[in-house]
Amino acid sequence: MKLSSPDYKGMDEAQAGADFRKRLDNYERAYQTLDEEDEEDVIQYCKLINVGKKVIAYNIQGYLAGQCIFYLMNFNLTPRSIWLTRHGESLDNLVGKIGGDAPLSPKGKRYGACLSRFIKFQRQENERIRTLEAETGTAMTPQKEKTVAVWTSMLTRTKETVEEFDPKEYDIKHMRFLNEIYAGICEGLSYTEIERRYPKEFEARRINKLFYRYPGMGGESYLDVIQRLNPLIIELERMTSDLLIVTHRVVLRILLSYLMDIDRSKMPNMEVQLHTLYCVEPKPHGTVVRRFKWCEELDWFIEEVDG
Ligand code: F6P
Repeated sequence: MKLSSPDYKGMDEAQAGADFRKRLDNYERAYQTLDEEDEEDVIQYCKLINVGKKVIAYNIQGYLAGQCIFYLMNFNLTPRSIWLTRHGESLDNLVGKIGGDAPLSPKGKRYGACLSRFIKFQRQENERIRTLEAETGTAMTPQKEKTVAVWTSMLTRTKETVEEFDPKEYDIKHMRFLNEIYAGICEGLSYTEIERRYPKEFEARRINKLFYRYPGMGGESYLDVIQRLNPLIIELERMTSDLLIVTHRVVLRILLSYLMDIDRSKMPNMEVQLHTLYCVEPKPHGTVVRRFKWCEELDWFIEEVDG
């Protein structure tokens, strides 16, 4: 695995191995091992051995420290693809209404159908590559057969987007965590109507979208949605299978900014268009993100390359 590190890119294997061993010697000289016996009760630490195979937590105190241990215990480096998209176009999208529980438009349904064919194709491709790697012995980590989990919100538009996925082939789950931000008294309105009816609210949200909470029963802010996504993110880190998440604009912004390490202040204005599919692959030395756009004419996904 170390050979895939950017430090050893293009370097001869034996030379890289020797360099890495020298590096370990230097670490041993420069650092002091943390041992229970050595410490007074002021130091808290957590040791992760072999990427979480063994976890040692010492003198952990407080909620946040406990949460960090919990997070690290669920972390894994199994090569996998996390696919993420918003639902297909809904009838509310066509008239610019936010929230609600509208069904898909005919175009949105076509997107869902193409998504199921594209993910199936990707699965077959991955399987082919894995078999090849197993046969040639070039796999970085032991390869297992991959299942694909499919998660949607509880709303009609995401459920309809995965209607063409065969439940015998995919482990499909619908969960409330993935629902769109709830806009309280603004549910079902367009942005123009919100500005006209509630100008002060409109301005407050424009000034601070991250903190702004929609008024009315159950109204949420971006921060509220981040909070409700915490358990889902732990599950995401724990999973070793491939995963497709079909959700909504706000949730997708939050998940992508978490996975791509995008600053929280930039997140509420990130562009995440309909009919765009992201593929995130966590790797030991950084995350690889690819973006595919649905081409309606070709009825297929085309990878977009920045720059
Ligand atoms: O318009 C679709 C939608 O998902 C709404 O349901 C939601 O309120 C909105 O996007 C969120 O986007 P923004 O935070 O940019 O208003």
